Amino acid sequence: MRILLTGATGQIGGSLKVRLSGHDVVAPDRKAFDLEQSETIAPFIDRVRPHLIINCAAYTAVDDAEQDRQRAAQINGIAPGLIAAAAKAAGAGLIHFSTDYVFDGLAKQPYRETDGCMPLNAYGRTKLQGEQAIAAAGGEYLIVRTSWIYAAAGKNFLMTMLRLGAERPILRVVVDQTGAPTSANAMASIVAAIVTQMGNAPTQYLRQHGGVLNATCAGQTTWHGFATTIFDEARRRGMRLAVETVEPVATAQYPTPARRPNYSVLDLTRLNREFGIAPASWRDALTEVMDRLAH
Ligand SMILES: NC(=O)c1ccc[n+]([C@@H]2O[C@H](COP(=O)([O-])OP(=O)(O)OC[C@H]3O[C@@H](n4cnc5c(N)ncnc54)[C@H](OP(=O)(O)O)[C@@H]3O)[C@@H](O)[C@H]2O)c1
Repeated sequence: MRILLTGATGQIGGSLKVRLSGHDVVAPDRKAFDLEQSETIAPFIDRVRPHLIINCAAYTAVDDAEQDRQRAAQINGIAPGLIAAAAKAAGAGLIHFSTDYVFDGLAKQPYRETDGCMPLNAYGRTKLQGEQAIAAAGGEYLIVRTSWIYAAAGKNFLMTMLRLGAERPILRVVVDQTGAPTSANAMASIVAAIVTQMGNAPTQYLRQHGGVLNATCAGQTTWHGFATTIFDEARRRGMRLAVETVEPVATAQYPTPARRPNYSVLDLTRLNREFGIAPASWRDALTEVMDRLAH
């Protein structure tokens, strides 16, 4: 199957590229396929003639998006709709990623795919705009909502904690935001399993199994819980740390440009029952990434 994979220099895209090596994967970088250049999107897809498009490219700097709204809206809100329309014209299926930040975080139990969205920040609004644009294009698609992505490289919470934990004795980490940390690897293995289920017929498959799908690692924790577990795992592997105290703080004591939901755990029932996929727990996924970092 020919797969057009965008965002392959990013966390999920990079992991997916490795797992899709059995397919004919076309993975242009931002220079070759820039989602800010609307007019190039349809012609590029028309040239590649993919059977499936997996769009991992996005504007993911949540705080920066508050100021850089137009760029974020172009990349996250407008471009996905153009990709979906071009996919439809090419007879291709589309897998796209969205976020737990489409929710306001007031729920007390995991969000289901059908729950109403109410983003608190510009990033979440642009991602929701992208979801709606894809649905409006009328093709065959799967929008995979995930959360708290990290990997053994790049800019993410794990790498930030390991860097700060090596420098400072005391760290203050937010304790009143709850979610599901998800390694890029765990996410990629879920999507790779779905691609395998598609066989050579992605559009037929998506006609039956399309729409919105929650997919994260299993379980939940807070940023503080995530940080303390990272440091436990790092110590167990003999990594040198300066940090002695990880102080739990309320979001109000740690203001950021973008507001974030207090609770954004996603319900995994559809992933489990319909797709037969049981994701790794966030702790097991972290163990696997820490093992890789330690070697
Ligand atoms: N990170 C999270 O915690 C998180 C949580 C929930 C959902 N998601 C969603 O999951 C998906 C993947 O996230 P990620 O964390 O893997 O992203 P990431 O590591 O930040 O990578 C983003 C990718 O998008 C590319 N990109 C950015 N602007 C582009 C443009 N104008 N044209 C073409 N490519 C462009 C980047 O290319 P360069 O390398 O050139 O910058 C990079 O390859 C996104 O849809 C994101 O919204 C992420």
